[in-house]
Amino acid sequence: MRVLDIDDLKAYYGKAIVLRGINLFVDEGETVAILGPNGAGKTTLLKSILGLVRTEGIIRFLGRDIAKLKTIDRIRMGISISPEGRHLFPNMSVEDNLILGARGNDYRDRLEFVYELFPEIRRRRNNPCKNLSGGEQQMVAIGRALMAEPTLLLMDEPSMGLAPIVINRIRDALLRIRGETGLTILMVEQNIRLAFEVSDRIYVLVKGDIVGEGTTDSLRGLEKQYFEQI
Ligand SMILES: Nc1ncnc2c1ncn2[C@@H]1O[C@H](COP(=O)(O)OP(=O)(O)O)[C@@H](O)[C@H]1O
Ligand SMILES: [Mg+2]
Repeated sequence: MRVLDIDDLKAYYGKAIVLRGINLFVDEGETVAILGPNGAGKTTLLKSILGLVRTEGIIRFLGRDIAKLKTIDRIRMGISISPEGRHLFPNMSVEDNLILGARGNDYRDRLEFVYELFPEIRRRRNNPCKNLSGGEQQMVAIGRALMAEPTLLLMDEPSMGLAPIVINRIRDALLRIRGETGLTILMVEQNIRLAFEVSDRIYVLVKGDIVGEGTTDSLRGLEKQYFEQI
């Protein structure tokens, strides 16, 4: 099943065009990565899917064009995001931040799932988020997005600002999420290695255009051709 199908999507800030008519899709159970340099439009793409910027074009989610829907309705349909910069409530505890992501009051099993995925943050469940390391905060941001039991998980640069060993930790968690839940994931990244390690397919986004795409396996070895701009 096609979870997300984007057709000729343009996005604007004021009169400036930032996405220049892009096409992409994500099928059920796939992890798809959008790789692109700073300023390519990666965050704008995720904001477009959530209805946070002005767009033209079709954004089909589970077969329905959601491009005109309000953000809250898109989220209710089953889209959640772990945003760039994490956006946690710094003075609230880890657990309260996670619970904020839940859809209702019946979140105990889901919370346990998140803690099993990230034992590091279980140990810190009662600490305010501001006391956590960058890696732990990223785990809370991903965990909070998972609490909603989304159909489509959007991730904005989960590797940002993290040391390689911590990125490996995030990678292992993503591989587990993929393996155990079959969740559909669309992530945007600048980290080529992380994208190649976790995704089934990759799109390359440069200056608001998709300039390359393919299965991860088919793109291996083409870094020079496609990725020198990242
Ligand atoms: N709120 C905004 N207002 C105006 N221009 C913006 C805004 N946010 C981003 N831009 C511009 O849009 C382009 C794409 O930005 P962004 O989507 O954040 O890129 P990326 O996430 O790939 O680094 C950049 O040129 C950036 O300067
Ligand atoms: Mg960004």
